[in-house]
Amino acid sequence: MLKMAEPIIHHRHPEFQELFARVNKNLQYIFQTKNDVLTLTSSGTGAMESAVCNLQNAGDTALFVNGGKFGERWGELLRVYGVSAVEITVEWGQAVSPEKIIDALKTNPAINAVYLTHSETSTGAATDVKAIAAAVRKQSDALIIVDGITAVGAMELRMDDWGIDAVVTGSQKGLMVPPGLAFIALGERAWKRVGQSKLPKFYFDLTVARKSIATNDTPWTPAISLLIGVDAALEMIRSEGIEHVWARHERLARSVRSAVHALGMKVLSSSPSNALTAVLIPDGLDAKKFNKVLKETYKITVAGGQGHLKGKIFRISHLGYYDELEMVALVSALELTLRDCGYKFEPGAGVKAAQQSFF
Ligand SMILES: Cc1ncc(COP(=O)(O)O)c(C=O)c1O
Repeated sequence: MLKMAEPIIHHRHPEFQELFARVNKNLQYIFQTKNDVLTLTSSGTGAMESAVCNLQNAGDTALFVNGGKFGERWGELLRVYGVSAVEITVEWGQAVSPEKIIDALKTNPAINAVYLTHSETSTGAATDVKAIAAAVRKQSDALIIVDGITAVGAMELRMDDWGIDAVVTGSQKGLMVPPGLAFIALGERAWKRVGQSKLPKFYFDLTVARKSIATNDTPWTPAISLLIGVDAALEMIRSEGIEHVWARHERLARSVRSAVHALGMKVLSSSPSNALTAVLIPDGLDAKKFNKVLKETYKITVAGGQGHLKGKIFRISHLGYYDELEMVALVSALELTLRDCGYKFEPGAGVKAAQQSFF
């Protein structure tokens, strides 16, 4: 935050190019790829859109999984560009199996890409993109495209080793920086497809961004202050080590999940993400009061549900700059709020479970 508050530098100046070169290298590290990771000035959805308008043609057929708000978004984007979107629907909170993907590929051999959501932020569900990518590669030439917006920097994701063709993320998640930047990496197979795509695009034309990155430039004026923040965040991730960052997220997620269970509540997903935990609001708990007390009395913000999960869940983030003590404090605040809302549980059970999971 202090870095981002420093006086601005000019983006056509060597000082910026030096920073951007470092950022680009470190982005490759967190994506675990040798491919260029392109920076776009937009929120994460901009990178999702670019993964459609650069990789498809009108009339193509692509597969997406609707297991939450963000999986659903892939379908919306595909349809906007005239792509025939084959939809697999899974109950929100559950994850799609590789078998279901393979069945869809067998039924629709025209599918040229599979659009996945690694960590479905609206439900707190994680998709096994590694297993799906391996299965898809055996079955077809369809590209594997992954929304890694809450996964990159939180959960194990190895773009090259797992054979993923495109990964997108945003600045405000695992990168711990305010919103405003999106990132996308494409593999060789995807770049070949870019050459065949005739869909209209200008700002999000990835061939232009690729040309610029070769000289550590961006085609358009980038959000320089945010990039300065990303540079600092990437240095932090590098010095902790990406495997340790993934392990920390897993540890924190596990502690929150065990606290939730100890308090007699249920986690929505049976395949939980390590970036956040979505908790089912128990019967009799006034969700509005719960959120208000947690925020106003204990200064903790949790997110509510989206779509048909509105009023049914609350979502706890453990993504980015968090440590063990903060999880214990968070669970303690949850307990005090539940007490204030008249919910019955064994006092201290959540804190004990959270803390015990660290031993
Ligand atoms: C998994 C996932 N995909 C897509 C998005 C959309 O990103 P943005 O709101 O940055 O456009 C989000 C945002 O929360 C997300 O978590």
